[in-house]
Amino acid sequence: MNIPNLQALYTKEEIDKSVELLGKKITQDYKDILEPNQFLVILCVLKGGFIFCADLVRHIKLPVRIDFISLSSYGNQTNSTGTVELRCPFKEEIKDQQVLIVEDIIDTGITMDFLKKYLATFQPREIKLASFLHKPERTKIEHKIDYLCYSVPDEFVVGYGLDYQGQYRQLDYLAKFIQ
Ligand code: IMP
Ligand code: MG
Repeated sequence: MNIPNLQALYTKEEIDKSVELLGKKITQDYKDILEPNQFLVILCVLKGGFIFCADLVRHIKLPVRIDFISLSSYGNQTNSTGTVELRCPFKEEIKDQQVLIVEDIIDTGITMDFLKKYLATFQPREIKLASFLHKPERTKIEHKIDYLCYSVPDEFVVGYGLDYQGQYRQLDYLAKFIQ
């Protein structure tokens, strides 16, 4: 798909490779941490995380349970509203479990701050974070990103799950959106 106001940043092939490496690293790291009969609980943050998560989990060779949480902080703007709305909670039992959050992007860090505080109330054993993207120049609240594909400059990006006004999530590449 060739769309005039999009400029490609990472191709499908580059993304596939990067996600595969991340999945292998996650497998390696958790394989000795998980106790017998324990699952890695993967929590995909909707909507933006759905494609990254679907690709990533297929490279994680461990017992996993996958759940979803829907959060929103953007409305239709390209700037965060600063308030996070919980649109749909998750269902899995996470008390004493290893939880891996899977996000599309850590921008200001406000959404992740909300999510970590919310999850902490369920007393998981440990929470780690995998994010497809990080925009370090926009950081307001810092987070350790345990597994990251790419850092991007302070520009609005779309594709591979990320949207502009609900569009472009289905692109299999990542692009800069030029308004
Ligand atoms: P936060 O500012 O870290 O709270 O990020 C909030 C959410 O904004 C992210 O989870 C994304 O869904 C969205 N977001 C931030 N930057 C971009 C972007 O460049 N393109 C598309 N969505 C973005
Ligand atoms: Mg998101």
